[in-house]
Amino acid sequence: MSLDRTQSELVELNRRHLWNPFTQMRGYFESDPLVIARGEGVRLIDADGRSYLDGNSSLWLNIHGHNRPELNSAITDQLGKIAHSTLLGMGNVPAIELAARLTAIAPGLSKVFYSDSGATAVEIGLKIAYAYWRRVGRPEKSGFLSFRNGYHGDTVGAMSVGGIDLFHDEFGPLLFGVERATYPNQYRFDGTALECAQACLSELEELLSRHGESLACCVVEPMVQGAGGMITMPDGFLGRMADLCRAHDVLLLADEVATGFGRTGRMFACEHEGVNPDIMAMGKGLTGGYLPVAATLTTERIYDAFLGEHSEKNAFFHGHSFTGNQLGCAVALAGLDLFETDRLVEKVQESAALVAGLLKPVADLPHVGDVRQRGLMVGVELVEDKLAKRSYPWESAMGARVCRRARDLGMITRPLGDTVVLMPPLVTESEDLTSMVDILHGAICGVTGS
Ligand SMILES: Cc1ncc(COP(=O)(O)O)c(C=O)c1O
Repeated sequence: MSLDRTQSELVELNRRHLWNPFTQMRGYFESDPLVIARGEGVRLIDADGRSYLDGNSSLWLNIHGHNRPELNSAITDQLGKIAHSTLLGMGNVPAIELAARLTAIAPGLSKVFYSDSGATAVEIGLKIAYAYWRRVGRPEKSGFLSFRNGYHGDTVGAMSVGGIDLFHDEFGPLLFGVERATYPNQYRFDGTALECAQACLSELEELLSRHGESLACCVVEPMVQGAGGMITMPDGFLGRMADLCRAHDVLLLADEVATGFGRTGRMFACEHEGVNPDIMAMGKGLTGGYLPVAATLTTERIYDAFLGEHSEKNAFFHGHSFTGNQLGCAVALAGLDLFETDRLVEKVQESAALVAGLLKPVADLPHVGDVRQRGLMVGVELVEDKLAKRSYPWESAMGARVCRRARDLGMITRPLGDTVVLMPPLVTESEDLTSMVDILHGAICGVTGS
């Protein structure tokens, strides 16, 4: 029925009843908001029938395109059986099958614990790490190490290990303390990529030496720090940091919520450096961006620590109502099939090479300070002064203005401050990738006046 309403009628209902996430609701209604009514392949169609390229995969989720028949039928087939039954104390068919498929592809991990968002997947990883050390007789290992500028979601534990001042500062008194290391940001470092990696590794080593005895785990966004501005790790950093964690007996929790499922050109970003984490959080692309299923994977060693007699009260006391939802697991299974039939990981590598070439003229623009890319994960950082690497003042909202212009030119994306994101669905064909980069180029030129 809502499809019959015009966009302006829906916006008026939105104004009256809906509070949008990460959105200043005062300015929102003056900005001619969009209401999406349909999706088709890599396009989103608004309630008035206008079509836009989905330049950020609907917030980094979409993998196989919208309204994909194979995924739609996986859901309707499952719906004909059952939509949901609990996973507390019993199993269900697609949740079990999906766990087997995920452990076959996730590096070195053999057990799956489900939840429903990236934040909960991380939250569960933190609780598992903390509870693990208590169960193996080392309760003093109860602290966490994470990276400045990191983002792991908006629940209290995930915020505690997050480090984006704008999102997290206000809630400081609610959060638990963590040790913080510096994520290697080559653009903002005075020196080579190697020196940048080395400086950050030295700091990490020093933190681990000082606090390793009291740390349960180290949380990291492997290869790309996403919400922090699409900061790409220098080669060699992840492998070295994994070695350091191991040497100091600190578990490694890889947050692959943004990077997982082919996004960086490997199924999981950890694979770029042959890293086997102790815990991995995944979400977003797990269901191709269709339904809210997330998962926390771990090793046999950690899982075994939670085994015991009823009287020992050793179980992992955690769960959510929708844990292991059948519809979500069924669509995730169909998505994994598509990875194989579409040869999707190889395709991402080819598309990434194409995009890298297309982005060269963007990098040359006078107000583009840095173009960062890993696979189909791209951030274009806008600066007021390219030579001095000076950022625009916050009030200029340059990133938001460029994204708004991109929308007028036919592509939807969202900025991270003044870093404009380009993260197309992984199936995007060359022609659409070219259009996306053209729009990005046009929007930057139009707004920055270059
Ligand atoms: C690396 C990372 N972890 C966790 C999250 C949180 O995921 P969700 O929004 O599904 O809670 C995000 C979201 O962008 C993310 O990028």
